[in-house]
Amino acid sequence: MQLQTTKTTRRAFVGALSVLPWVGTALAQGSMTGMMNNMGGMAGMGGMSSAAAALAGLDRIGTGASLASLVKLTNTSQEAGVFRATLRAAPVSVGLMKDGTKTDVWAYNATLPGPLIEVMEGDTVEIEFINDLPQPSTIHWHGLPVPSDQDGNPHDAVVAGGRRLYRFTLPLDCAGTYWYHPHPHGFTAEQVSRGLAGLFIVRAKNDPLASIPERHVVFSDIKLNSDGRIADNDMNDVMNGREGQFVLVNAQFQPVMSFDARGRERWRIWNANSARYLRLNLPGAVFTLVGTDGGLLQSPVTGMTELLLAPAERVEVIVDAPANGGIVSLVTEPVERGKMGAFAPDQAITLMKVDFTNARPKGLVALPARLRRIDDLGPVKAQKRVVFSESMSMAGGMHSMKFLVNGKSFDMKRVDFVSNINEVEMWEIVNKSDMDHPFHIHGTQFQVIESEVDGKVTKGPYRAWRDMANVKSGEIVRLKMVQSQKGLRMFHCHILEHENAGMMGQVKVV
Ligand code: C2O
Ligand code: CU
Ligand code: CU
Repeated sequence: MQLQTTKTTRRAFVGALSVLPWVGTALAQGSMTGMMNNMGGMAGMGGMSSAAAALAGLDRIGTGASLASLVKLTNTSQEAGVFRATLRAAPVSVGLMKDGTKTDVWAYNATLPGPLIEVMEGDTVEIEFINDLPQPSTIHWHGLPVPSDQDGNPHDAVVAGGRRLYRFTLPLDCAGTYWYHPHPHGFTAEQVSRGLAGLFIVRAKNDPLASIPERHVVFSDIKLNSDGRIADNDMNDVMNGREGQFVLVNAQFQPVMSFDARGRERWRIWNANSARYLRLNLPGAVFTLVGTDGGLLQSPVTGMTELLLAPAERVEVIVDAPANGGIVSLVTEPVERGKMGAFAPDQAITLMKVDFTNARPKGLVALPARLRRIDDLGPVKAQKRVVFSESMSMAGGMHSMKFLVNGKSFDMKRVDFVSNINEVEMWEIVNKSDMDHPFHIHGTQFQVIESEVDGKVTKGPYRAWRDMANVKSGEIVRLKMVQSQKGLRMFHCHILEHENAGMMGQVKVV
């Protein structure tokens, strides 16, 4: 279990060692989810120290600001159908804490979260990427059907101080809610946890829900030490994926949103956390699910009282204000995902307040019964089988944990599968480990056909396009997909610390 530690992080880590032992400090501060981690087992871990800096208490960041809209990336092109802009990844110092303590983050265009790119289906996108980080990086267009050599694969790293142009033309019928983030070999988890991730919306020329006011809600957690620095990974982060104590919404801590006066909004929700699952609850309000990762569903799914989002997953929901108004907390309830180690049980966390005081849900009309046509992909021509497993060992007094795909650790030089272009495949994702792992593949969207637990098969509930599918411990999930462009594509667990620790493979489309 090798931590990817750069010179900068190692210096930050060593510099923070002088303080009280972690557990005592966390308890003294009245602590919260994820802070009371048992630090036993830390001693002797390769690349980690037996002491760690104290985490910042939750009172260090102010709450209650009004929810910010996302910063949009400006299109500098004059040509119709062309979106042209620059994204520069660089260190920047931000004032998250209310006492003025600065936090050094890494950001795209000095913006947290990274700017929103908004384009139409069929548009050509040209992004000049400037890498002013002290590490190699790439930009991966998560979920979008872009050519393999434009998709920010680890093989196409842009060196520190370098730049490159990403250029792709989006097909029709790919309207949806996507995002972008770094994908360099060995540095993805670190770069995302330092702040590098941005949003991407592809709009349809004919959107059946276009008249409903739209809201963007991006969740990203950040783990901060009391000195304001981004905390290093501890044993629990390495095993379970990193969960920051501050779960931010549009980079704000527990903001307040003032709901549209007409009583109905369309929310696009991104789980941009490295590892934290979300089980969203907004008591009194009713969610109608209208879209998933790859855009609108065939038909709305009404009456949902909670939304489960694995890391990297997105949904679109229609939210109707409750009849009696008021201010309601949007919370995330604990998700049982087989985390290992000893720590206090997860608790519900308040994410933001939604103010329905002026929202009058009057005269709301029924949503269209059909949002979009989604056909079954048709007869299956080939099969793939992906087995996720974990192996733990003790070697020379050090814990070592491996996260594997078909018994192997990721190797950039190894092609794990070959797929034929435009051929329908059934992918079977088997989780033989104790933890949940959210499966993701590049280059295409898939349909979840069914899942199986202890021989009992459950059909996918509705037809949808996704690029994320959570696979619970002991579960088998079957997905249908087609790759329609040649080249190398990655597939992996989207708990980024697991991906970093080897739970990734590659398929070559020929
Ligand atoms: Cu967001 Cu390889 O993925
Ligand atoms: Cu991706
Ligand atoms: Cu995983």
